[in-house]
Amino acid sequence: MAKDVIIACDFSGREEVLSFLDKFEGKKPFVKIGMELFYAEGPQIVRDIKARGHKIFLDLKLHDIPNTVKKSMSVLSSLDIDMCNVHAAGTSAMMQAALEGLTRSDGTRPLLIAVTQLTSTSEERMQSELLIGKSLEETVLHYAENTKLSGLDGIVCSPLEAEKVKERCGKDFLTITPGVRFADAKADDQVRITTPAKARELGSDYIVVGRPITAAADPVEAYERCLKEFLG
Ligand code: C5P
Repeated sequence: MAKDVIIACDFSGREEVLSFLDKFEGKKPFVKIGMELFYAEGPQIVRDIKARGHKIFLDLKLHDIPNTVKKSMSVLSSLDIDMCNVHAAGTSAMMQAALEGLTRSDGTRPLLIAVTQLTSTSEERMQSELLIGKSLEETVLHYAENTKLSGLDGIVCSPLEAEKVKERCGKDFLTITPGVRFADAKADDQVRITTPAKARELGSDYIVVGRPITAAADPVEAYERCLKEFLG
């Protein structure tokens, strides 16, 4: 299974992201494009980055009725992205519709993963506002199982949850994990963090790394360090 480092390109506009990627010269890191950049620049930014030879995780976290998600996924799939996502809270009907929409006429499709509970949601708020009575961990694992049963490829989770997710859903079920920091760096606003090496030990398949690379004095060096620590 391909393990890789995905750079979270959380930039607000086209010039910023392209000049950031220019620094990598011949290298073509796997990149994540989120809502901010996509809403600012539209689908053309995805085509342009793809044309430069990068793999793309389009992180738009779809959550709507199955028919709307199916049709939207079909549009995203035509952008030739490599990975995209939905909220597992949309239920299995929505996740299955997403898969159908994503599958191209030749049978190929990007990887499809699900967000279980956002890491910004505390157990207390989940219970008091969403009226989910179980623990946060049990809820994440249950949503992971629903995701797997719906035929998706994996989930976004903390590296600290990756082992349990693999135990519940099998070793081939992908874990895509943000919240990664170098041992000698600051945490920013992330709370449950691990180093790239620890994420590897815990069984993450892809680590998503933003500021430790994008805000580094030498982003290419930081990326290489991340790859080295994560891939071992
Ligand atoms: O800069 P940093 O490494 O914290 O960036 C992490 C990236 O992963 C950001 O794009 C953030 O939105 C995303 N993410 C996250 N936690 C989640 C889901 C996505 O940090 N649970």
